[in-house]
Amino acid sequence: MRGRPLAILAAVPLFYPDVLPILERRCQSCHRAGEAAPMALETYEQARPYARAIRDAVLRHTMPPWFARSEPGVFANDPRLTAAEISTLRQWAEGGAPAGRPTAPRRQWTEGWRIGTPDVVIEMSKAAQVPAEGEVEYQHVIVPSGFTEDMWVAALEVRPDSRAHVHHAVVFVRPPKSVWLRAKPVDELFTAKGQALEGLSTLDEVIAAYLPGAEPHVFPPGHAKLIPAGSDLIFQIHYTTNGKASTDRTRIGLVMAKEKPSVRVYSAAIAQGNFTIPPNAAAHRVEASFTVHTATEVYALAPHMHLRGKSMRVRAVDADETERLLLDVPRYDFYWQLVYRPVKPVPLPRGSRLVVEAVFDNSSANPRNPDPLATVRWGEQSREEMAVCFIDFLLPVPISPNELFRAPRLGR
Ligand code: HEC
Repeated sequence: MRGRPLAILAAVPLFYPDVLPILERRCQSCHRAGEAAPMALETYEQARPYARAIRDAVLRHTMPPWFARSEPGVFANDPRLTAAEISTLRQWAEGGAPAGRPTAPRRQWTEGWRIGTPDVVIEMSKAAQVPAEGEVEYQHVIVPSGFTEDMWVAALEVRPDSRAHVHHAVVFVRPPKSVWLRAKPVDELFTAKGQALEGLSTLDEVIAAYLPGAEPHVFPPGHAKLIPAGSDLIFQIHYTTNGKASTDRTRIGLVMAKEKPSVRVYSAAIAQGNFTIPPNAAAHRVEASFTVHTATEVYALAPHMHLRGKSMRVRAVDADETERLLLDVPRYDFYWQLVYRPVKPVPLPRGSRLVVEAVFDNSSANPRNPDPLATVRWGEQSREEMAVCFIDFLLPVPISPNELFRAPRLGR
């Protein structure tokens, strides 16, 4: 007997006992009402019409989205299915997608905040108007935090209210000493056209981001981010148009640490802004590197390029030239700004160098390339490029992030 008769003999998996738990575990974070995916996969009625598409997507490994070349167990947030899960979905779809006896969902999703009820919610003080069509410059709003003392934050979540229009949103913290965007008014929307980085320094920090498909920031016990007293939050939002005009007032929710943490999570961008990608270049390499001047650990990495981004690798080169590959994304995809979080934070001894290697495809072989004849430089819009890897570092609390950047004085 071959093929078909065997498949009939084997019991076909059923939706409720076999398939639903997989969807709950691996798919519903996006495939449920109000989330990033176009259709919900919460009930049999919703999933049945997509049985074939589900089979194809998991066999082709296009769902769930994941772009790192890595063994399972390297990244804590690796969503990939096991071979057994793939086989269950496949046999279910090929066996006529039977329902089985209905059961209640095992996984209850809370509406709204995924970090639990925030202690503090800070909202864009003005709503942005998103037009029906065209390119929208990055919108910024500076919102005073109102915090009169240093605040340690254990969980953060950025929530757009018009998800269909928010491509991504980044919230920065600007401490009182920072001069970044000081000339701009508070509580007003503005675009910064090429000046968005003017005065930006290591004082300023990305405190949280909303990226399609990304999870909210929830730190382990004893770990937190710092919002210094008197800081402003700067919302930077990239809106995309989709034929329907809308308004948006993105918010950030904060859950405060109950006790003073022992580890500070500090985000920095390792970036190279000085590059020129020639027309038609199929694999233009841009490198950025950064030496850490105090021992630290890498908690998470998030590559960021635009439509010509092809691949990214991040290596750690220790002072004795030992190399470790921290992240390898052979097929970068602009539409998925994923964060890669190692199961165990990666230690970087003092003097280690992080090397970010970004490769761009400006040829016509890149189907997303808006213009292979363009000479491409750094810029905010998707037709311009960026070569950035956002890195979350862990630092023991008395140590200031300045120590990461500042070379120790000679003789010390
Ligand atoms: C991180 C968010 C996310 C997760 C997790 C996710 N999806 Fe998706 N899925 C999307 C989005 C967004 C789209 C539409 C955009 C696209 O097609 O790339 C999509 C599209 C699809 C499609 C239709 C497109 C196609 O490939 O034909 C299928 C089928 C699908 N997902 C199945 C799944 C299944 C099954 C899982 C779990 C095993 C899953 N997805 C997990 C976000 C997600």
